[in-house]
Amino acid sequence: MPVICSPRPDGSRAYNNTHGRKRMHMAQTYTIRKATIMDVRHIYTLLRDYADRGVLLGRSLSDLYDQIRDFSVAVDGASGRMLGICGLHICWEEFAEIRSLAVTAEAKGRGIGRALVEACQVEAVALGITRLFVLTYVPEFFKKLGFDPVDKAILPHKVWRDCITCVKFPDCDEESLIKAL
Ligand SMILES: CC(C)(COP(=O)(O)OP(=O)(O)OC[C@H]1O[C@@H](n2cnc3c(N)ncnc32)[C@H](O)[C@@H]1OP(=O)(O)O)[C@@H](O)C(=O)NCCC(=O)NCCS
Repeated sequence: MPVICSPRPDGSRAYNNTHGRKRMHMAQTYTIRKATIMDVRHIYTLLRDYADRGVLLGRSLSDLYDQIRDFSVAVDGASGRMLGICGLHICWEEFAEIRSLAVTAEAKGRGIGRALVEACQVEAVALGITRLFVLTYVPEFFKKLGFDPVDKAILPHKVWRDCITCVKFPDCDEESLIKAL
């Protein structure tokens, strides 16, 4: 489990990567912070790389500029290089969606995915959100974070707006999961 340190004056949080004793030898810090305009092209590239492999949906630069305030990023504590990203999209009263979660190939397995989702969760609670959902191809990862499978039909109808423009519509093979906050 990453250790969450006190928020810094700029609102970011430093995480000490001691994700299990077996990984102590590669301990290294990373910071989770809100994304800025300067991050957009890195977010775009990371999402496009995974989208090309069919593991998540890519986003256009236009969408990313529109929705940049949804995003949190994990950056290397020493170099500032982006290691991962996650979006928190408010959908409806009570509901927000975790979307576009991605960790770079070399940074996987260090607790960064978990830390990004947890940071979005903290933000969601502060916003008054009570239910967090996700549509995903990695349900087992989200189950580890306390999400439970749910029938997509109970999700806000607005979700379908994105589904209709998805290249996979109507043959969606993503699983929907939800977590009460
Ligand atoms: C899925 C992803 C975000 C996980 O990020 P990560 O930083 O490697 O994950 P973490 O190190 O935080 O793992 C947290 C826990 O989930 C487990 N886990 C990680 N990836 C998993 C997977 N694909 N399936 C099941 N469990 C997984 C880890 O073993 C760890 O378990 P532990 O706490 O018992 O040790 C990352 O693999 C990724 O970017 N994948 C490609 C994009 C993608 O599929 N995104 C999801 C879109 S919704």
